[in-house]
Amino acid sequence: MGGINPYHKATSIPTATRPFTVRLAGHPTTIEVRPEQLPFGRDGRPGSLLDILLNGGRVAIDHACGGVNACSTCHVVVKEGLESCSTADEAEEDMLDTAPGLTPQSRLACQCVPDGSRDLVVEIPSWNRNAVKE
Ligand code: FES
Repeated sequence: MGGINPYHKATSIPTATRPFTVRLAGHPTTIEVRPEQLPFGRDGRPGSLLDILLNGGRVAIDHACGGVNACSTCHVVVKEGLESCSTADEAEEDMLDTAPGLTPQSRLACQCVPDGSRDLVVEIPSWNRNAVKE
């Protein structure tokens, strides 16, 4: 599933223009992202961390609403490279407030779009970690 939440203002965020990697903290998975591959699929914003993890890396991260900023189950912590990601808008911040274990580096994977200027290290919170493919 994917698409746009009809209750939120639709905004377009450019996808990455440079190659970069997304490494999962505490896990051997590193995903190499090439701009010409984006979007990998239809989950979350095009080129979002959800799209990269789920469709590019085959990481089974929760995304109950299908990536339309309506659930917060795709909560991730961007441990490195957060400055290269799109800024969270008010709708994302409101939804993120409902997620447990918030940190200053927390984002909704379906809304967070890296620009490719940095390699990222992303942590999937422990309550969601069992979903990560070994
Ligand atoms: S998948 Fe529901 S908010 Fe990201």
